[in-house]
Amino acid sequence: MSSVEIKKGIYWVGVVDWDIRYFHGPSYSTHRGTSYNSYLIMDDQVTLVDAVFAPFAGELMENIRSVVDPSRIDNVVVNHIETDHAGGLPVVLQAAPKAKIFCTAKAKAGLLKHFPEAKEWNFRVVKTGDTLPVGRRTLTFVEAPMLHWPDSMFTYIGEEELLLPNDAFGQHLASGHRFDDEVDQHVLMEEAAKYYANILYPLSRMVLKKLEEVKGMNIPISMIAPSHGIIWRGDPGKIIQAYQRWASGEGQEKALVVYDTMWGSTATMARAITEGLISEGIEARQYKISKTDYSDVIKEMLEARLVVVGSSTIHRHFLASLSPFLDEVGSLKPVKRMGAAFGSYGWSKGAVKGIEGRLQGAGIELVKEGLELLWVPDEEEKKECFEWGRSLASFAKNK
Ligand code: FEO
Repeated sequence: MSSVEIKKGIYWVGVVDWDIRYFHGPSYSTHRGTSYNSYLIMDDQVTLVDAVFAPFAGELMENIRSVVDPSRIDNVVVNHIETDHAGGLPVVLQAAPKAKIFCTAKAKAGLLKHFPEAKEWNFRVVKTGDTLPVGRRTLTFVEAPMLHWPDSMFTYIGEEELLLPNDAFGQHLASGHRFDDEVDQHVLMEEAAKYYANILYPLSRMVLKKLEEVKGMNIPISMIAPSHGIIWRGDPGKIIQAYQRWASGEGQEKALVVYDTMWGSTATMARAITEGLISEGIEARQYKISKTDYSDVIKEMLEARLVVVGSSTIHRHFLASLSPFLDEVGSLKPVKRMGAAFGSYGWSKGAVKGIEGRLQGAGIELVKEGLELLWVPDEEEKKECFEWGRSLASFAKNK
């Protein structure tokens, strides 16, 4: 795609990556691809905000060239040094060797460790409140440490009411469209939620603090242009409100039953538990984890107040297929979630205890004693599972 003018004299010069299917290694599936967004501000001075992932640097340069000769770039703002945004910097700086680089102190230190040629770059370290007048407009910098890396920063252009927050408010969504009012709202919010859950969940306390800080600055924002996906132009408040909800752990009357099974007994339990939850009016969804993408399930945890996890016992442990899901939940630490564990066993128990330990380690409150059944559930035991699910429903409800 070529450049797109997003405000008079301000251009999206990023690239669309239609093919990427995993991000951050295998932990985050990106079914709908992504984009790496860069922005070019044409004023008395020419400013580029963020570069792109290195394999796409050539396309970035073509897009810049469609607006201006890259040698005319005076300033490069580096809001974040992760390689999907800074990988293309050496190519940009080759074309514009005299450009000044505006970034936080942590970003400068990180860039020096990423790129040997950065020793020659013309750094200007900035902090919150520092400004860069570029002509008719002035860029204001706001440090955003741990949103989501220590080096992260937002750039705000008051004259345009435009916030460039890098990763924050982004989505992994490849599209021929650039704006929120041009795309399917369900798809947009689904990808924004998945992005929040898989990247920002453990940083929720800092997200809330930053939202308060930005609110306190009383700055008008009519457009939010993140570094991935779609630009919020029609309704930027929608994503801010969603972040407020997700970061505060506000959930819905929804429960997830996530399990795996050796020979079907734990699957029978899962089905009865799910039906018990549904019988109480809860929106319950059941996932066999070995057949499900766990980063999609984690996205659902943004809304589901209750997560019930089950496994057969093998070697006094839960099934290995649950480990990637439980590992990821443990590192993402969902906010204000409740849980319980279940499973069938043969001659020795172990899975339920193991799952409970993992849920507690993730900060999930255990609300009911685990349900363990020997071998194959009979009709009475199926009823017991149903009742156990039914009794959990109250925890998914708004207390
Ligand atoms: Fe999109 Fe933190 O990189």
